[in-house]
Amino acid sequence: MSLPKHVSIIMDGNGRWAKARGKERLFGHQAGTESVRQAVETAAELGIAYLSLFAFSSENWGRPKVEVDGLMELLVRAVHAETPSLIENNVKLLAIGEISHLPVQVRECFGQSVRDTACCTGLQLILALSYSGTWDILQAANRYAADLRSGKVEANGLDAALFESYLSTSGIPHPDLLIRTSGEQRISNFMLWQLAYTEFYFSQKLWPDFRREDFLEALEEYAGRERRFGKTENKQ
Ligand code: IPE
Ligand code: IPE
Ligand code: MG
Repeated sequence: MSLPKHVSIIMDGNGRWAKARGKERLFGHQAGTESVRQAVETAAELGIAYLSLFAFSSENWGRPKVEVDGLMELLVRAVHAETPSLIENNVKLLAIGEISHLPVQVRECFGQSVRDTACCTGLQLILALSYSGTWDILQAANRYAADLRSGKVEANGLDAALFESYLSTSGIPHPDLLIRTSGEQRISNFMLWQLAYTEFYFSQKLWPDFRREDFLEALEEYAGRERRFGKTENKQ
C-alpha cells in the first residue's frame, strides 16, 4: 500500500458531538483527545513520517472565553499526560503557529514536551496552535524582508525553495493527504501554501468518532489515488 509521508488532519466536529449528547462543547474536545491518541499511535505504528494536526486556529481565539480557556487547559493536561507515551512510541513533538500568543502555561508545557521528545527519531507530530495559513505566509514574507534589509539574502533571488525555508514548516515535506472530519469541505485557513498538491479526504464522522479504523480507511483510499502533479500519467 502506498503510504503518505505526511498526513494532516483538520480535527473538526467536537462541538457538534457534545451538543448531540446535550453536553458542553468542552466535553467534545475532551472526547476528541482519544481520537488524537489513536491517530498518533496508528501513524507511528505504520511508519508515517509526519502527522500534522490542526488543534487551534488563529480564528479560534474569537470563540467564547470559557471555551478558549478550557481548550488551553485541555492542551496542557493532554501534552503533560501523553509525553511519556510519545517517548515510548519514539514520537517527536513540534509546534507551529503564533506560539507567543498562547498562555504561558501552554508554552511552557509544550516547550518541555518538545525538549523531552527532541531525540525521538520516529514519527514527527506537528501541532498547529494559534495557526493560520495566511499568518504563515505573512510571517515568512516579513522574515524574508528583514533578511533582505539586513543583507543576509540577495535581492531578486526569491524562488519557491527560498520562500519555503521561511515557512513554519521549513524542512517538512508538504502534506500528501489532508483529512477533514465532520463533513465540512473547506480548508479554514490551514496550510494554504503547503496544500498545493495535497490529496483531500473528507469524512462525515465528527472528530471524537474518528478512530483507528477510520484513519486506516482514509489511508486506503489515498493509496488508490493517482497523483499527477500537473503532468500526464505516462511520461512519453
Ligand atoms: C474542532 O471542533 C476543534 C477546534 C476547532 C478547536 P469544533 O469545536 O470546531 O466543533 P464544531 O465544528 O463546532 O462541531
Ligand atoms: C478548523 O475548524 C480549525 C481547527 C480544527 C483547529 P473550525 O471549526 O474552526 O473551522 P470553521 O469555522 O468551521 O471553518
Ligand atoms: Mg468546527
